[in-house]
Amino acid sequence: MTARRRTLSGIKPSGKLHLGNYLGMLKPALELQSTHDVFYFIADYHALTTVRNGAELHENIYDLVAAFAALGMDFEAHTFFRQSDVPEHVELAWVLSCVTPIGLLERAHAYKDAKAKQEEVNHGLYAYPVLMAADILIYDSHEVPVGRDQKQHLEITRDIAQRFNHLYGETLVVPEPRIEEEVATIPGVDGRKMSKSYNNVLPLFSTEKELRKAVMRIVTDSKTVDEPKDPDTCNVFQIFRHFAPEADRAAWAQRYREGGMGYGEIKQATFEAIDREIAGFRERYFQYRPDLTRLHAILDDGAEKARAVASGVMERVRGKVGLR
Ligand code: ADP
Ligand code: TRP
Repeated sequence: MTARRRTLSGIKPSGKLHLGNYLGMLKPALELQSTHDVFYFIADYHALTTVRNGAELHENIYDLVAAFAALGMDFEAHTFFRQSDVPEHVELAWVLSCVTPIGLLERAHAYKDAKAKQEEVNHGLYAYPVLMAADILIYDSHEVPVGRDQKQHLEITRDIAQRFNHLYGETLVVPEPRIEEEVATIPGVDGRKMSKSYNNVLPLFSTEKELRKAVMRIVTDSKTVDEPKDPDTCNVFQIFRHFAPEADRAAWAQRYREGGMGYGEIKQATFEAIDREIAGFRERYFQYRPDLTRLHAILDDGAEKARAVASGVMERVRGKVGLR
């Protein structure tokens, strides 16, 4: 049997999951379980750049374990863990930071945006891409499934890995991003990128009622029912199309163009299409979430498997740079 390629990705425990996370990252990433050797983790060190409340961080972490369980992560066959359970991530981050040119970090979007908005820029935010590079490189990852907004971080990771290899000889696997171009960036209810920071999300795990309410809030233009409409520029359709079967998509697109369809109608159809896909996940999520013993057991097992790989790669790196 040929060895499977390793895919790795992380998600920050920094708030409630939304349909942008689901379509852009969770769904495509979890589908890779049948073809890849999967490592997925909860990026709690990364969350510290913004989450300032320990109790809240804990709850967010449980949310994510329950989410991965509900969405079908196979914890036995693959590796699912919490970043801070594997201290090698920070050890490698330090070594990598010593070969990372400052200019590379100054060009990073997240840092530039925070600075432009005069938000708090802490060193953690500035060094974020180096820790992310360590997350990826410490497992010899081949592919990293993420949404398009993470593309630059992957480019930085590749730069750092190549630089390390140039200085010390072939040591680190240079990973490739895996971005669903079909999905790219899902709009939120206001048409901007769906993001917890914009408060414009359609929740992944909420009650049916909350989901319906959020769908009804999606902003549209003010065309009357009779007027022909353009599905390609409509925020509702941009979400509908990811949940509807091909035939429904074509039929509704035609109804847009013909006129005679009101936005209330397509919103109802969108709600139903989303609900059809996620109702089962929601039910499982609310079963897992209160069972903290089970959630802890998942994390403990995952930590052990992850550490076994990370310690091997770290040993290789220490050898190359002359530590120990
Ligand atoms: P947020 O913007 O809500 O803070 P995160 O930055 O935590 O979301 O993103 C977690 C994962 O979900 C990343 O892989 C990211 O690329 C993906 N993602 C987030 N928002 C979207 C979106 N609107 N469309 C597609 N993918 C997204
Ligand atoms: N930066 C990613 C995000 O904001 C989260 C993340 C941290 C990550 N480390 C990673 C993603 C390693 C992929 C690989 O969504």
